[in-house]
Amino acid sequence: MSSPPTPQIPRARVAVSRGSLPGDSVARLSSVFDVRVWPEADAPNPSDLAAFIDDAEGLLGVAKDLIDDQLLDRCPQLRAVAIASTGYDYVDIEAARRRELPVTHTPAVLSGAVADHAFFLMTGARRRAHEHTTMFRSGAWDRHLALDEMLGLDVYGSTLGIVGYGQVGKAIARRAVCYEMTIQEYSRGPHDDLAKPVELDDLLRTSDIVVMCLPLLPETTHLIAERELRLMKPTATLVNVGRGATLDEQALASALKRNVIHSAGIDVFESEPISDTANPLLELANAFLTPHMASATHAARASMVSVAADDLQAMMEHRPPQHLLAELRHE
Ligand code: DGY
Repeated sequence: MSSPPTPQIPRARVAVSRGSLPGDSVARLSSVFDVRVWPEADAPNPSDLAAFIDDAEGLLGVAKDLIDDQLLDRCPQLRAVAIASTGYDYVDIEAARRRELPVTHTPAVLSGAVADHAFFLMTGARRRAHEHTTMFRSGAWDRHLALDEMLGLDVYGSTLGIVGYGQVGKAIARRAVCYEMTIQEYSRGPHDDLAKPVELDDLLRTSDIVVMCLPLLPETTHLIAERELRLMKPTATLVNVGRGATLDEQALASALKRNVIHSAGIDVFESEPISDTANPLLELANAFLTPHMASATHAARASMVSVAADDLQAMMEHRPPQHLLAELRHE
């Protein structure tokens, strides 16, 4: 006599908001859950994202997926959200809190990649990389440059001011030790022995290079604007690898144009993406710009997705996640 068929336990439904994610984490989730993956190359707009999530109980999302009241009202079944991103300014914390919805992010795993990129931006800006490569690639390198032509400024041995001293800021400080830099930082703490804590105005006045690695919060919005830029040295470089709106971009463009500061290396912008040339920074030779890709290494991006997938699986299985947003913790 054949045994009765084992009843199929329905698997929990999980939505993944991007069709193409690095690593094998989505395959891993698919072996446990009923996973649906956003089918198009372009990111979903908020309304399409809600329609796509539909009755899913878990969401694996990425930076810029707007998790707000509107989306959560349309997706009442959601009981866990894991975002493969460190910053979470696009998550409405109150909306999540009201619904007791756990949301996780991926701090730490991208700090090294972002810190490396901060040094790339510092060096590119101070050594006039944009001007040099533009000249070279346009076929204008038709004679040996004179010894005093197109010179830049050193990174090595300079004074570094880190604004926002979290995991990225600390990873930058560790690298700065090898560059024999004098390191100072402005933050609420925790502080450490690598960098001297100073007030923001003092940091701006005395640093050769100022690196911003701040989350976007009401109190950090336009933290660096016209007044702050005027405090900086005319030979200073400003780098931003945190969030675009922590810096007043119009004020920066104007400061660069008038040589109030030497240069800037910018990876994050007030409004992203930028597909036209209207942004005033794009026409400035002393602005060294990259399109929000500081964490874009194979290893960092795969780790971000893997950490988010692990946390999502934990939450779906009613285990505590490792990286719940600080604002949603109950300690
Ligand atoms: C992050 O994880 O916050 C990076 O900026 C990518 O958005």
